[in-house]
Amino acid sequence: MKLAVLPGDGIGPEVVGATMPLLERLAPLEVTELDWGSDRWLRTGAAMPADAVETVREHDAVLFGAVGRPDVPQDVPVWGIILKLRQALDLYVNLRPVTSWAGIEGPLRDGANVDFVVVRENTEGEYAGIGGRSHAGTADEVAIEVAVHTRRAIERVARFAFELASRRRGLVSLVTKSNASRFGYPLWDEVVREVADAHPDVRVEQVFVDAMAARMIERPRSLDVLLCSNLFGDILSDLGAPLQGGLGMAPSANIRPGGGAPGLFEPVHGSAPDIAGKGIANPCGCILSAALMLRELGDADAAAQLEQAVGRAVRHTRTPDLGGEATTAQLAAAVAGEL
Ligand code: NAD
Ligand code: IPM
Ligand code: MN
Repeated sequence: MKLAVLPGDGIGPEVVGATMPLLERLAPLEVTELDWGSDRWLRTGAAMPADAVETVREHDAVLFGAVGRPDVPQDVPVWGIILKLRQALDLYVNLRPVTSWAGIEGPLRDGANVDFVVVRENTEGEYAGIGGRSHAGTADEVAIEVAVHTRRAIERVARFAFELASRRRGLVSLVTKSNASRFGYPLWDEVVREVADAHPDVRVEQVFVDAMAARMIERPRSLDVLLCSNLFGDILSDLGAPLQGGLGMAPSANIRPGGGAPGLFEPVHGSAPDIAGKGIANPCGCILSAALMLRELGDADAAAQLEQAVGRAVRHTRTPDLGGEATTAQLAAAVAGEL
C-alpha cells in the first residue's frame, strides 16, 4: 500500500504517530511522510506545496491527523489543506460511523449498542467558499456566505447512502431544513425522493436537523444511515462523538466511491490545542480511521482485527478523556497487545 501520511498540527502528529506502528503490523506499507500544516505555513508561507494534489494522487490513501493552530489564521490550514484536498480530489462522501463500545460510558442513561452512520456530503453546501464582505468596520458592514447545493452532488451522495443502508438495516434518514430553507434543502428533499424510488428495499424518512439533534440523544438506536449536507453532517458527527465515548473515539473516511482518487482517512476531532504536547490525546479516533482505510482498500479482515483490538484495549487502558490516566503511547501499546 502506498500511503501518504499527513500528521498536521497539534495532537495530529501524536495520534498519527501512535497509529502507524499498528498499521505497519497489518499491511505492507510504502510511506511518504508529508510535513504539510501550519508550521510549514509559518516557515515557508504555504501550508502545502503547489503540487500537493498531484503528490497525493500518487498514493493509494492518505492518513490525516488534524490541522489548526491558535496562532495561525483558521482559514490557512482549513482552506489550504483539508477542504482543498476534499474538494480537489472530489472526495464526495464523508463517512462517519457512530458506534458505542462495551464498557465505555456515554452521556446517555441507556446508551449501549448505538450503531449508525453519518453520510456527509463533502464537496459543497455551506462549504462552497463563495461570498464576500464589504463596508469593513462600518455600521453597514455586510458578510455574504453562499451555500451551493447541486443536483449532481446530492444525487451521488444519496445513491451511496441508499446502497449503504441496503447492506445495513435498510433505513435512510434524510436530514434537511426545508421548512426554513426555501431553495437548497427543498432540492435535497426532491432529489433524494427520486433516488429513493430506485431503492424500494430501503425505507426513507425526512427529518429536520433540529429534531434530529434531539433524536440522536433520545432514540439513537432508531437510526441507521443519516444522509446530511456538509454543515449538518459536520455538526451531527460531533454530536455523535459522545455516544462513542467522546471526540477521541470518532473516526471518519473521506472517499470517492467508484474510484478516481485516493481516500483521506482522519479522526473527526481537530488539533485539540488545549491538550497538544501533553501526550494524553486519545489515539483511537485515528486508529479506527486507519481501520476504515484498510476496509476501503479491501482488507476487511485487518480492519475488523484493528477495531476489535481497540474495543478490548479501552476496557482496561484509558486516556483522561475516557476517564483514565493512560498516555497516548500506553493506549496505543494496549491496542498493539490486543492485536
Ligand atoms: P477539537 O476537536 O480539536 O477539540 C475539542 C475538544 O475535544 C477539546 O477539548 C479537545 O481537547 C478534545 N479532544 C479532541 N480530540 C481529542 C482526543 N483525540 N483525545 C482527547 N481529547 C480530544 O476541536 P476545536 O477545539 O473546535 O478545534 C481546534 C482546532 O482544530 C481548530 O483550529 C479547528 O479548526 C481545528 N479542526 C481541525 C479538524 C481537521 O483537521 N479535520 C477538525 C476539527 C477542528
Ligand atoms: C471536520 C472539521 C472540518 C469541517 C473543519 C476543520 C473545516 O470540523 O473534519 O469535521 O468542518 O469539515
Ligand atoms: Mn467537524
